[in-house]
Amino acid sequence: MNPTESNNTTRRESLLDSLRSIMREALPAVQSDDDIHVPFLEMGANSLVLMEIQRTVENTFGLNIVINQFFEELTTIDALATYIDQNLPAEVSEPEVSEPLSVNSELVSAEAGEPVAALSHQVVAKAVPNLELNLGEASSELEQIFTQQLQAASQAVSQVVSQQLAFLRESGLSSGTLSDADTTSAAKTTPAVSPPSKPAVAPKPVAKKPKSAVSPQHLLSPLEIRARGLTEKQQRHLEALIARYTERTKTSKKMTQDSRSVLADSRATVGFRFTTKEMLYPIVGKRAMGARLWDVDDNEYIDISMGQGVNLFGHNPSFVTNALETAISARIQPEPPRSQQVGEVAELIAELTGMDRVTFTNSGTEAVMAALRLARAATGRYKIVIFENAYHGHADYTMVRAEWQEGIPQAVPIARGTPPSAVSDMWVLEYGTEQSLEFIRAHAHELAAVMVEPVQSRRPDFQPKEFLQQLRQITREAGTLLIFDEMITGFRVHPGGAQAVFGVKADIATYGKLIGGGLPIGVVAGKAEYMDSIDGGMWQYGDASYPQTERVAFGGTFCQHPLTMSTSLATLKYLKAHSPALQENLNRRTTQLAKTLNRYFEQEEVPIQIVYFGSQFRFAFSSNLELLFYHLMEKGVFIWEWRNYFMSTAHTDEDIDYVIKAVKESVEEMREGEFLPPKSSGVETFKLPKDSKKKAEEIIAPISPQPMNEAQKQLWVLAQITSAGSIAYHTSVTLQLEGLFHLTAMRQAVQQVVDRHEALRTIIKEDFQHILPSRVIE
Ligand SMILES: Cc1ncc(COP(=O)(O)O)c(C=O)c1O
Repeated sequence: MNPTESNNTTRRESLLDSLRSIMREALPAVQSDDDIHVPFLEMGANSLVLMEIQRTVENTFGLNIVINQFFEELTTIDALATYIDQNLPAEVSEPEVSEPLSVNSELVSAEAGEPVAALSHQVVAKAVPNLELNLGEASSELEQIFTQQLQAASQAVSQVVSQQLAFLRESGLSSGTLSDADTTSAAKTTPAVSPPSKPAVAPKPVAKKPKSAVSPQHLLSPLEIRARGLTEKQQRHLEALIARYTERTKTSKKMTQDSRSVLADSRATVGFRFTTKEMLYPIVGKRAMGARLWDVDDNEYIDISMGQGVNLFGHNPSFVTNALETAISARIQPEPPRSQQVGEVAELIAELTGMDRVTFTNSGTEAVMAALRLARAATGRYKIVIFENAYHGHADYTMVRAEWQEGIPQAVPIARGTPPSAVSDMWVLEYGTEQSLEFIRAHAHELAAVMVEPVQSRRPDFQPKEFLQQLRQITREAGTLLIFDEMITGFRVHPGGAQAVFGVKADIATYGKLIGGGLPIGVVAGKAEYMDSIDGGMWQYGDASYPQTERVAFGGTFCQHPLTMSTSLATLKYLKAHSPALQENLNRRTTQLAKTLNRYFEQEEVPIQIVYFGSQFRFAFSSNLELLFYHLMEKGVFIWEWRNYFMSTAHTDEDIDYVIKAVKESVEEMREGEFLPPKSSGVETFKLPKDSKKKAEEIIAPISPQPMNEAQKQLWVLAQITSAGSIAYHTSVTLQLEGLFHLTAMRQAVQQVVDRHEALRTIIKEDFQHILPSRVIE
């Protein structure tokens, strides 16, 4: 190998490392990125994740990649590394900055049917000039420490240290010459305290005309495309499943394809992956009743999607359909005139939620927009805090992710079409942390509102009661409104929603979904002092009273739709008559389902977990297990692209048993098809992910032991001679970070150090070195 070849190999390896680390950040739930030939989409990336990767690659390497390239040619880490390698100028050997991503882990298991709001993304790794200087000094100190140790250390190991110093010098790491790429995560983390808006590094090389690196996707057959990264057994399993599934649901597939040219339907593309492309179409429904539905091919399903949480009582409960039929036969059109029921619906919502006043919209998204407007009007402030991983509908200013700019968690649009100016008054914080409370405390005087999805539907096992209580106190003291978005939790977990569960009273709450009894609705409910901006507040006839409160703009053709009001009234009456026993019973049965399946997953050492809150639950994965859902559908369990599942009062014990059985059978089949690992045979252990947000703990797989190198042997001998020997070469360096401590950034930095340095994960056993896989640092 000539020196150029060797340099190229080193550069490619280093690129592979960087890309692995980018992928790990982008898809935290992915267990292993060791196979650089597995397509990104199969790892669990979706278009939003790909956009994040595209941006990071562009920021890091200065290479402009068109998103389509990720679907066509740059489909794997291997292909992307080759492409970057070929298009970077020869002298650029390493990324100058690495910008770790933190994209919602839910994206792995569930590409949202809805766009994903508040994606987490911390820019943490941009070096600043004075940091470089400090590190230059630090590196001198490091060298001094090494030198002192060199003098003090025993003869037997002095050679090792000499080698270390030689390495430092050769790598340009000694005295004041630390490069960005070499400064370790500790250095790169520092800017998280106050991240600069622009990376203060040498300008990135921008490739003029990217060369094509790999054979494009269109040269492969569909079968070859699907087979990439799969074992033979996996391929056979997949092809057989596709054949069975598409035969069973062929009319749905045909109808979807027939309408695609005229129907722009985001739902029909959710979770696009080449492996499952042939099965990617919405199942077309024919009829539904209770816990069951039937598709156009007359397949029967037990529905656990329940209309995205709308159908609390199952499909078409008679008390709702009766009300609807009566309303239809009355042939009352949307106002004018006004619906007879609207006043009673408002009264019942106020009574059940404990709010003073109520107004209606057509969707949750509109309700959230109205709530924020009310908060801004009431406070005269514009800034709003929302949280990572929350979903608040698809209005421009909630479709955001966080980007730390100059110490501020600035919201930036998650996708094209939203101008940054539309979200410039939004701040996106990590949910449930002390640091976020600190930030809110520090900025409370600027904040119109803090809006929470109290238990995020993507992370139902995270129920931060104390955080919410503290948030209440801070916002109250600062005159900032606390808004609870109870679109899913409202009336479901308790008649008083999450507020009742956590003992926290919001100033404004938004509701929707189940409260419409199956028809479109959104509700804003709140304290009179805020709600009065909708209509000017209370006044009566026959005196001098008038609508005194200054108003916001609010309205909508279909708000208070008479059909919705009739189904909503029926729903509320039923809820009033049966709460809280109804919710308690549902919650208990959901817990039973989750516990039964979690016990099974644990016994079988399957890296899946059911996470839940109230009667909403999800399957949390530590890798891309999309096929599980197709297996469930094949067995007649209806699942939905957004991957949130709901128990309804219509589900019988037999239905639940059926779901449990279908999950177990699917797991067995997937294990047979090598899509799930075999049960442990002594050494290998599988650990369940602790919660859906975190990466699963890595498999402790036996890595083939390697002989020790000379330096290791000498240290090993020294450690045998004296217990102090093993710490003879420990050095401590203190870096003082100033400003707000950003836990996520620090966690990412420490994780990177552990991921990057095998030496930190190497143990010596029976005279061999064993490199352990990286693990999630808690
Ligand atoms: C918490 C939350 N807020 C807002 C929305 C938006 O509601 P809609 O889809 O009715 O616009 C949703 C929808 O799922 C939601 O879950």
